[in-house]
Amino acid sequence: MKILITGGAGFIGSAVVRLAVSRGHQVVNLDALTYAGRLENVAPVADDPNYVFEHADIRDRAALDRVFATHKPDAVMHLAAESHVDRSIDGPGDFIETNITGTYNMLEAARTHWVHEGKPEGFRFHHISTDEVYGSLGEDGLFTEQTPYDPRSPYSASKASSDHLVRAWFHTYGLPVVLTNCSNNYGPYHFPEKLIPKVILNALQGKEIPVYGQGLNVRDWLYVEDHADALLLAVTKGTPGESYNVGGENERRNIDLVTTICALLDDMRPGTAPYADLIRYVEDRPGHDARYAIDPTFIGKTLGWRPSVTVEEGLRKTVQWYLDNQAWWKPLLDTDGVGTRVGVST
Ligand SMILES: NC(=O)c1ccc[n+]([C@@H]2O[C@H](COP(=O)([O-])OP(=O)(O)OC[C@H]3O[C@@H](n4cnc5c(N)ncnc54)[C@H](O)[C@@H]3O)[C@@H](O)[C@H]2O)c1
Repeated sequence: MKILITGGAGFIGSAVVRLAVSRGHQVVNLDALTYAGRLENVAPVADDPNYVFEHADIRDRAALDRVFATHKPDAVMHLAAESHVDRSIDGPGDFIETNITGTYNMLEAARTHWVHEGKPEGFRFHHISTDEVYGSLGEDGLFTEQTPYDPRSPYSASKASSDHLVRAWFHTYGLPVVLTNCSNNYGPYHFPEKLIPKVILNALQGKEIPVYGQGLNVRDWLYVEDHADALLLAVTKGTPGESYNVGGENERRNIDLVTTICALLDDMRPGTAPYADLIRYVEDRPGHDARYAIDPTFIGKTLGWRPSVTVEEGLRKTVQWYLDNQAWWKPLLDTDGVGTRVGVST
């Protein structure tokens, strides 16, 4: 299958690109290379004859039409987005333009291509979204595909908007779309401003490890390579019009996650004192959702997917990857949002 993957130089997109190429798919990676996009993430497949890179911005409709006309993909996996909640608090404008208008451009470029090709039945437009569109849970319950949308941050509101557009293109124009909504991902190549890499890298540098509020927020952690596997199943076997929730069945309070990483580092790269001594509680992010947890029963039953690792196994692999790949993360430490705090303005 020839798959056009947007955002393929980012964290999850690059995992999908690497896995798709390794499974023999032809991949066109379309990415604007914002601060979050790095071609190093796809270096393992860069010379593969089944891989092509297109430097383009999803806000540029003409560029999208050119890419579709040149490559004539059988399917689209749309991951390009502004993805960091803290950045959406400080500057929501880019989230509206890329996540909403950019998705609209992708839908229209894909629809034009699909109509031009005679509406092939097997064509898929797969939108990769987040469980944050469902809002926040109390102590009990899980997000299912039927949970009403209730986004709280500019980021999650922009993703909810793009999900609605994707469904509208299915109902109005018959475009064969598939949606997936996943929980928090972690793993290799994760940009160092996000929680797990930040904890690992601050610890390794002997810097304070900031934890929002009391660290009681609960997230459901999904290993990125398990997620990439679920996404390839959804795009190749998913039913048009369907949504699939993808979760790792690995709920953890943030503080428990952070102390687990510190304990792994104590074991794998012992320092002079326990790394947990570096933990500092900092003022909470505005509108910080209390708990997210996904019920992945539907994708398990219909597509046969389940996560392959527990969070402890995945975290050990992740810590090992950061220990082995300093050349990847060291140059990123000066990037805005990595060394400085973002997401505090209201
Ligand atoms: N990371 C998570 O835990 C998580 C959880 C749920 C859903 N998601 C969704 O998965 C997708 C990928 O997330 P990620 O963590 O890999 O994000 P990321 O920030 O690591 O990567 C985003 C990629 O999109 C590219 N991009 C951004 N704006 C663009 C534009 N205007 N045109 C073209 N390319 C552009 C960037 O260069 C980057 O390569 C996003 O849609 C995100 O909303 C992520």
